Amino acid sequence: MHWKNNPVEKIKAWESDLADNHQKFIKANLRLDLTRGKPAIEQLALADGLDGILRGNYLASDGTDTRNYGGLTGLPEARNMGAEWLGLPQEEVLVSGNSSLSIMYQILHVGAHYGFGNTPWLQQSTPPEFLAVVPGYDRHFAICEKLGIKMVNIPMKADGPDMEMVEAQVRRSQVKGIWCVPKYSNPTGNIYGAEVVERISRLGNQAASDFRIMWDNAYAIHDHYENASELTNLMELCRLNGTQDSVFLFGSTSKVTLAGAGISFLGGSKANIKHFIEQMAYWTIGPDKVNQLRHTRFLPDFAAAKKHMKQHAEIIRPKFELVLRKLDESLRIKEMGNWISPEGGYFISFDSLPDHAKEIVRLAGEAGVKITPAGSTFPYRFDPEDKNIRLSPTYPSIEDLSMAMDVFVNCVQLATIRKHLGE
Ligand SMILES: Cc1ncc(COP(=O)(O)O)c(C=O)c1O
Repeated sequence: MHWKNNPVEKIKAWESDLADNHQKFIKANLRLDLTRGKPAIEQLALADGLDGILRGNYLASDGTDTRNYGGLTGLPEARNMGAEWLGLPQEEVLVSGNSSLSIMYQILHVGAHYGFGNTPWLQQSTPPEFLAVVPGYDRHFAICEKLGIKMVNIPMKADGPDMEMVEAQVRRSQVKGIWCVPKYSNPTGNIYGAEVVERISRLGNQAASDFRIMWDNAYAIHDHYENASELTNLMELCRLNGTQDSVFLFGSTSKVTLAGAGISFLGGSKANIKHFIEQMAYWTIGPDKVNQLRHTRFLPDFAAAKKHMKQHAEIIRPKFELVLRKLDESLRIKEMGNWISPEGGYFISFDSLPDHAKEIVRLAGEAGVKITPAGSTFPYRFDPEDKNIRLSPTYPSIEDLSMAMDVFVNCVQLATIRKHLGE
C-alpha cells in the first residue's frame, strides 16, 4: 500500500518519529558537507608522484626549456595527451593552465566582446542567448550571467538534451551556443547517446555562423566501472558535416591528478584554435609548461591515464554505491523522489517531488549537512519545479557520507510528509 493511503493519524505519528530523528541530528552538532564535487584527499594522494618527477630535467621532447616563457599552444607531448582524451588530432588541441573552466570563460568573453569573425555577440542588434541543458553545471551558467548572455533552458533527457527543442532554438540567429557535458553530465550523470551526438554535429549548419557548441568533456575518463559506455566522437561527425568550426571541446586533469594544479585542454578546428591563440597572446606569454611536462612524465600515455583512473574508481565507487543504497532503501518504494545511478563522474542528481527541494536543503542545513542550494543546477539559480538537488559523494569519508545520507533521507521524508499533511 502506498504510504499516502494510510490513515492521517498514522502518517502524523510517522511525521513525529521523523521529527524526533531530525532533532537528534541537530543535537549531534554535525558538520558535514555534500556540496562541491572535490576529489577526496586519498584521490589527490594518487598523484603524489608528480612531485619531483622532473629531477632537474626540464627539457620537453622538442627541446623546449619548459621553465621559460612562450609556447602558447602547450608542449607537443601534452597536446598528444589532450588529443587522446578528446579524440582529436594533435594540431586541434591547445594545452593550458590548471582550469578548463577559465578557458571556457575566455572563449565566451572572446565571442561576446571580439566575435568569431562576425560582429561581437554583444554588439549585434539582438542580445545573445545560450542554450542551457538543465539541470546543469552552475559555473557554466554563471559565466553567461556574468557576460550578459541570456540563457534558455533545455530539458535533459536520458540520452542527452531534448534535441527537438535545441534544433528549434538554434534557428534563431541570436542563439550563440549551447553548454554540453556529454559524458557523466554534471549533475545528471548520463552519457549523450549516439543519435543525439549526431544531431548536435549538424547544429552548425542550422545555426548562426558564430554559434559555438561548448563540449565540456570534464569526465571523459572518469568511469567507475570496467567496460564503460563510449561517447560518440562529436568532432569526427562535425568534419563529415562540414561543421567543425561550430565546436569547442574541453577537458582537464583536475579530477585525475590535482584539482588545483592540473593541466587543461582546449580542442577545436585549426581555424578556431588559431583565432583563440591570436586573442590569448593579449593575456599570457605562455602556459605553465613545467606542470605540463610533469603531467606527461607521470601519465606518459592513455593506458597509464586509464590505469590511474581505476585507482580513483576504487576510492569513489563505494561512496556512490553507499549513496544510491541509502536513497533506494529509504525513498524508492515510497516514491519520494527520482534519481539515476551514474556509472562515472562526480555527482548524483536527486529530484524530489515538485516544490520540495528548497525545504529539504533547509532542513538538512539545520541538521548540519550542507547541500548545494536548491536551484543551483539551473540558470539564474531558479529551478521552476523546485525539485533538483545535486549530491556530491566524493570528498567526505565513507563514515561522514553515511551519516550525511541518513540525515538527508530523513529530511526528504520529513519534508514530503509535512507537505502532504499540509495539503
Ligand atoms: C562539468 C565541469 N566542467 C568543468 C569543471 C571544472 O574544470 P577545471 O577544474 O578544469 O576548471 C567541473 C568541475 O566540477 C565540471 O563539473
